[in-house]
Amino acid sequence: MTERTRLFAANWKMNLEAAQVDQYLARFTAGLRESASNGIELAFYPSAIWLERLLRELTQVSSAGRSIFIGGQDLHPESAGAHTGDLSGEQLVSAGCTSVLCGHSERRQDHGEDDQLVAAKTEAALRVGLLPVVCVGESLEQREGGQTKDVLQRQVSTILETVLRTTETQQLPPIVIAYEPIWAIGTGRTATPDLAQDAHAAIRELIRTAAGVEAARATRLLYGGSVKPGNCEELIAEEDVDGFLIGGASLDPDSFLDIISRCG
Ligand code: PGA
Repeated sequence: MTERTRLFAANWKMNLEAAQVDQYLARFTAGLRESASNGIELAFYPSAIWLERLLRELTQVSSAGRSIFIGGQDLHPESAGAHTGDLSGEQLVSAGCTSVLCGHSERRQDHGEDDQLVAAKTEAALRVGLLPVVCVGESLEQREGGQTKDVLQRQVSTILETVLRTTETQQLPPIVIAYEPIWAIGTGRTATPDLAQDAHAAIRELIRTAAGVEAARATRLLYGGSVKPGNCEELIAEEDVDGFLIGGASLDPDSFLDIISRCG
């Protein structure tokens, strides 16, 4: 059995201003230095204007047993050009980033991103060597209509097929999939551990079918949706939950550190 390194990712969304970022980083780096958690990976996805600050401050507390990815919340599939307001993977890499979120449900909703576009963004991230954290998950309506597995099938397969088509070796490159049921995001309503495990097992099976046993074993699957210190331990105990993508609770350095130390 491949040991999958647990990954705890902070998605700050459109939050925190300059002074708050500085306070956060001071508190977080002090707390992480004291923390015993080891053999884990962390990731931060701040607003792009703060990437440089995070790269400067967090690189100092990154270590072999606790490496920290810093990345964008989105990228454009093209490398450069007339796309006002967008960022390319090439730009993120040249700024020092190592990862990027693709297809977060808020981007799918607010900006009409569909599965094809999300797949193209994932491909663009891989092209430049960024670790893509690709978000999938059903809406409340889809869950109540019994369509969860179909939605996951469509979302995950589109990504895998696109990525595998452009990979010469036909081997799945390192990507992370975050299962984030839309009804659980920012609502305080978390998926039960059983429900999260069920969805994660379905995603792993889709990976196995598309890319083989080894890829299915090695690919990390994160859960996201109202993760907090009070519910993280029961979720991480599930076999196919390899970490979290955390919004609200990651905005407080102490609660993010608490989650890391409970689950890391
Ligand atoms: P939440 O957000 O933890 O605030 O629910 C998770 C996410 O959208 O990544």
